[in-house]
Amino acid sequence: MEEIKSIQWFPGHMTKTKRKIESQLKLIDAVAVLLDARVPYSSCNPDLRSVINNKPRIAVLNKCDMADPKETKKWINLFKEKGIASIALDCKTGKGLNTFIPAVKNLLSDKIRTWNEKGMTGKTIKVMVVGIPNVGKSSFINRMSKQNRAKVEDRPGVTRGNQWFTIGKGFDLLDTPGVLWPKFDDPKVGERLAFIGSVKDNILDTEHLSGRLLEYLRDNYAEPLCMRYKLNKDDITDLQGYEILEMIGKKRGMLVSGGETDTERAAATVLDEFRGAVLGRLTLDKAEEHTDVRI
Ligand code: G4P
Repeated sequence: MEEIKSIQWFPGHMTKTKRKIESQLKLIDAVAVLLDARVPYSSCNPDLRSVINNKPRIAVLNKCDMADPKETKKWINLFKEKGIASIALDCKTGKGLNTFIPAVKNLLSDKIRTWNEKGMTGKTIKVMVVGIPNVGKSSFINRMSKQNRAKVEDRPGVTRGNQWFTIGKGFDLLDTPGVLWPKFDDPKVGERLAFIGSVKDNILDTEHLSGRLLEYLRDNYAEPLCMRYKLNKDDITDLQGYEILEMIGKKRGMLVSGGETDTERAAATVLDEFRGAVLGRLTLDKAEEHTDVRI
């Protein structure tokens, strides 16, 4: 996944984002770190921890509608073990969104009590929303505020002004200042972000990528994989990803002239279906493999 690293990694821009986040910290009470529930580890930029320093934080596992519910529960338990507040929700149906404000109030209960003791009742709670591109920040802010977060393209050089959104009486959200890029410090991170579609396909070899995804699914989610593509588990045990891809293309009748299997088309189908949760609700980062939560 060297290609992902070289194209999408912009250390200079990360430095700028860090500075912008740091400069806003004094204005806010807490940070909501949005994560993709399918990849709670890979979708977290590990540098964020040192940037937000000791500000209270809450991990928001978004896109739960597409993640394996058993695994999401394990992640919530892991965060709890680590003393980190976390909630699971999805911006598609809106499930879990109503747990956000109470969870933040719980996180800030000592601070709120102090405010109340000082007669500052009703002081506005201010929370900064951060997350790598595509985790659902716009969807979350739009859903919570019933406003439209200005769509600004996430790419280097495009700046976003400070944007505040009121989501309830005495509760404001501050949009991420700048773009928080993912960090490809582990090859698995880049690969998993590519599987879910958070790394643009036009820079990737989709046949190789879907082959790797098929190997992952064979080893971790064999049942939904075999069911979807009418494969026999024993037939694919020793195959390379590319061979599984060929098998799927053949079964689906995807042929190019001359009778060869159209693996490019098969690759696009596999990636699209995985990203659309057609194979079911699947989680790629397992809590037990990532006890060093990065947030
Ligand atoms: P960002 O601001 O962090 O970059 O993310 P954004 O809200 O733009 O969301 C990225 C994509 O993820 C969007 O899809 C959005 O609809 C989808 N999404 C966000 N939250 C959820 C969720 O909880 N569940 C599901 N299933 N999808 C979610 P898109 O195809 O890029 O755009 P659109 O055509 O859906 O608007």
